[in-house]
Amino acid sequence: MTEPGDTAASRRCFCAAACRAASAWLAAAAFPAGRSEALRAARDSAPLPTIRADVDENRVTVRTESTPLAAVGGRARIASNVGSFLVTRTDERTFLVLTAICSHEACLITDVDDEAYVCPCHGSRFEASGNVLTGPAELPLYRFDTTFSDGVLVIQL
Ligand code: FES
Repeated sequence: MTEPGDTAASRRCFCAAACRAASAWLAAAAFPAGRSEALRAARDSAPLPTIRADVDENRVTVRTESTPLAAVGGRARIASNVGSFLVTRTDERTFLVLTAICSHEACLITDVDDEAYVCPCHGSRFEASGNVLTGPAELPLYRFDTTFSDGVLVIQL
């Protein structure tokens, strides 16, 4: 048996619980953890310079002079008919070349910050070697073999 006051108190409790649940649901929808990480990563990164490359059979060739890859430490995204590549020049004759396709959900990685390539979709960050620095990606980026001679970088497909 319920008293009139009990019914009003139960109704108030129900309404308060419903309001808390609705607030929590709205907060989760507006600020999921991955989204805030992606927003932070996007804010701190900038687009990579892009270089067009030629494709010849199983090779992508890039002339590096007058590009960001002309100097040691330079980084760029190479765009070609067979895909896009993230390139870091590590010394006079050595380059690290990675696929620009994110290992998380296959977005095109276009951005870079001080120390990492940054995926614009969910904020994953990768070292120049392709290893994951920050998820949600869990797998490294695929790395390609290269040669370099007379200012021409060759990426072996
Ligand atoms: S596709 Fe999700 S972080 Fe790159």
